[in-house]
Amino acid sequence: MRVDVLTLFPGIFEGPLRESLLGRGISSGVLDVRVHDIRDHATDRHRTTDDTSFGGGPGMVMKPEPVFAAVESLGPGDRRVILLSPAGRRLDQALVRELATEPWLVLVCGRYEGVDERVAEGLPAEEVSIGDYVLSGGEIPALVVLEAVTRLVPGVVGREESLERESFESSMLDHPHYTRPREFRGMAVPDVLVSGHHGEVERWRREAAQAKTRRNRPDLVPVSEGSETMADRPAIDDWVGRYVRAWESNDPGAIGDLFTEDATYFTAPHREPWRGRDEIVAGWIGRKDDPGTWLFRFEVVGVDGDVGFVRGWTEYTVPVPDADSGRFGNLWQIRLSEDGRCSEFIEWWMAEDT
Ligand SMILES: C[S@@+](CC[C@H](N)C(=O)[O-])C[C@H]1O[C@@H](n2cnc3c(N)ncnc32)[C@H](O)[C@@H]1O
Repeated sequence: MRVDVLTLFPGIFEGPLRESLLGRGISSGVLDVRVHDIRDHATDRHRTTDDTSFGGGPGMVMKPEPVFAAVESLGPGDRRVILLSPAGRRLDQALVRELATEPWLVLVCGRYEGVDERVAEGLPAEEVSIGDYVLSGGEIPALVVLEAVTRLVPGVVGREESLERESFESSMLDHPHYTRPREFRGMAVPDVLVSGHHGEVERWRREAAQAKTRRNRPDLVPVSEGSETMADRPAIDDWVGRYVRAWESNDPGAIGDLFTEDATYFTAPHREPWRGRDEIVAGWIGRKDDPGTWLFRFEVVGVDGDVGFVRGWTEYTVPVPDADSGRFGNLWQIRLSEDGRCSEFIEWWMAEDT
């Protein structure tokens, strides 16, 4: 695949085009990426590429002549010209796939207030945005397009099967990945992944990807699927993992993210529950502010409908042991909503010798 990049700042591309997959794709000859300085196509003594805006207003606008000249200097051929612009069609994996089938792309990077409208109109150039925010120039967006597109070009990514499972390839996010160590800071890799049972691993990954999609990107979930009852084991595994991480970080955002707005949290059924996300966050942080250290170990023992059952072991060590400290067995009942948040949490504590 050939890609020509037109920019006022060619230096920005040096590092990214030298390193990692892009660098290797270029040095192996699978990718032919050429970066051109638009300024080389300015014709006046000062090599001017921008001018003030007709109609007034702050900021400069990139002139059309040097951009047209730069594209025309590439010679004839069937190419697709893209102008990076926050006002363009938003880049997604479907567009990336489409662009990856093109033999030749030209990426035009804007700067300042943008590029004279006649570039999009007259070249013509398709406007493409990488997201709903404004950057100072089109160079980083061009690199985003370049990296997303070229990794689909055969020979750029080593094992092509790894592409098929990626996020968005099946309107779903990728499943969670784990590597060694098997246990890290009290967080264990789900047992099924080390079971050696290929079918079970596949099933877990599929369900975990669904659970993650429902939680992080409910907009991607087909309506029929989203309205089903939450009943999967990876969703509970995922929630427990996030619970432990939130406990370690004690970050109010991460804690609040675990619960629905109107969730109920029974720290033990005989105590008054914390009601609502704000009260849960405040109660949790108040509890963590007590002196001492906590050690956790948890195991999901079952799922029934939208409820997960978790067995745990806790060790709470305080400088001067008191009635609350010691080793405990725990039992949790977690009710999950469709978006993967907990709407009801019930926890039983049992001193280890009971
Ligand atoms: C400061 S921006 C111009 C913003 C423009 N005045 C607007 O409000 O739409 C300068 C250049 O950065 C690039 N750019 C900024 N944000 C972008 C985005 N989200 N996607 C693609 N290109 C972007 C474009 O090439 C643009 O011409």
